[in-house]
Amino acid sequence: MNYHKKTVKDIDVKGKKVLLRCDFNVPMAKDGSGVITDDKRIRAALPTIQYLLDQGAAVVACSHMGKPEPSFEKWVKKQTEKGKDPASLTEEKWKKSLAELSLKPVAERLGQLLGREVIMAADVVGPDARAKAAALQPGQILLLENTRFEKGETKNDPELAKALAGLAEVYVSDAFGAVHRAHASTAGVAAYLPAVSGFLIQKELEILGGALASPKRPLVAILGGSKVSSKIGVINNLLEIADTIIIGGGMTYTFIKALGGSIGKSLLEEDWIAYCQDMMAKAKEKGVKFLLPVDTMAAKAFSADAEPILVDTMAIPDDCMGMDIGPKSIAAYAEAVKGAGTVIWNGPMGVFEFPAFAAGTKAVAEALSKSQAITIIGGGDSAAAVQQLGYADKMTHISTGGGASLEFMEGKELPGVACLLDK
Ligand code: 3PG
Repeated sequence: MNYHKKTVKDIDVKGKKVLLRCDFNVPMAKDGSGVITDDKRIRAALPTIQYLLDQGAAVVACSHMGKPEPSFEKWVKKQTEKGKDPASLTEEKWKKSLAELSLKPVAERLGQLLGREVIMAADVVGPDARAKAAALQPGQILLLENTRFEKGETKNDPELAKALAGLAEVYVSDAFGAVHRAHASTAGVAAYLPAVSGFLIQKELEILGGALASPKRPLVAILGGSKVSSKIGVINNLLEIADTIIIGGGMTYTFIKALGGSIGKSLLEEDWIAYCQDMMAKAKEKGVKFLLPVDTMAAKAFSADAEPILVDTMAIPDDCMGMDIGPKSIAAYAEAVKGAGTVIWNGPMGVFEFPAFAAGTKAVAEALSKSQAITIIGGGDSAAAVQQLGYADKMTHISTGGGASLEFMEGKELPGVACLLDK
């Protein structure tokens, strides 16, 4: 995939209407109060928004939020499949579920951060959005409603893409977190307008793309998280590029099983044992160092107050499950990170949400924070862990994309990047 894409600096936006796709899919309080619990993604879009406004563009911003179901019938079907009583599924409840995914709280927060009014549209490409976009003046910003309120969004419907394009003269994408989605607002719309990237996508492509295309070596990839099945493509692709691969987290135990170890009650994905064997054989063949934890902090129950028991990873007792990497593994992993030129980290080393089993993840974060290497944290859980443990400002880059950064590391083409103009 070509990572060299035109940016907002390569085109003239003065006096133009710019459709700006952001990823404002921010976490909200579960009580439906509309309180944004982490505004990182809104802040990450500010440099591009500010630049466009300063250049005298009129900004028509848009984003998705969550996974709303825009059809009442389909919503009823999905809720029924989840075990809800169909008689209780009223149109009112469906509308409430949509209202909870409105971008109104984002408009408010964005306005506070920018120190200026953010005009909110009541729809995406409906009469309100069209009228407000048409009246928008240079230096003003309008936010459209959740793009997924439109049925055509996730289907990449050309009619919706055209309608979105009709609101502006230029398309700028800064929604790195959503570039792995071929949706109307992330990819389809680019067929109808000159399409360039904002500063956030530019930075993600430079840092992540640079680390994969021409890394400062040795390149150490630390891969954790609970499931091997969610990292298949990543492990496979990184085995082509990395010098060392370090494994931690729940997926460790499928690898240990593949080596003939005893894993007790630890997480196991039976169907992926053969894959793990293949990956370890591939590592050997390519001369890639492949490190698995030698010791494990186990527990008899999956609970925050379970007593941590230190065991050999190859011999986890039948009544125990692996919850974190142990001290010998921590030392070995820290050593591997010490001499690295680049470290890419995706996925926690253990159940870091439970303080008794956070030591492995914390130690890896600390090792990265002390290292001279370029340190890149994949989005999602690893970004949350680094943030929660207080090491966020010590890393070179924390990706704003969860699924997007994973697909990037898999070497896949990202539709939201491929659709932008090449440099
Ligand atoms: C994310 O949170 O990873 C992005 O906003 C993409 O969201 P999605 O998985 O709902 O497409």
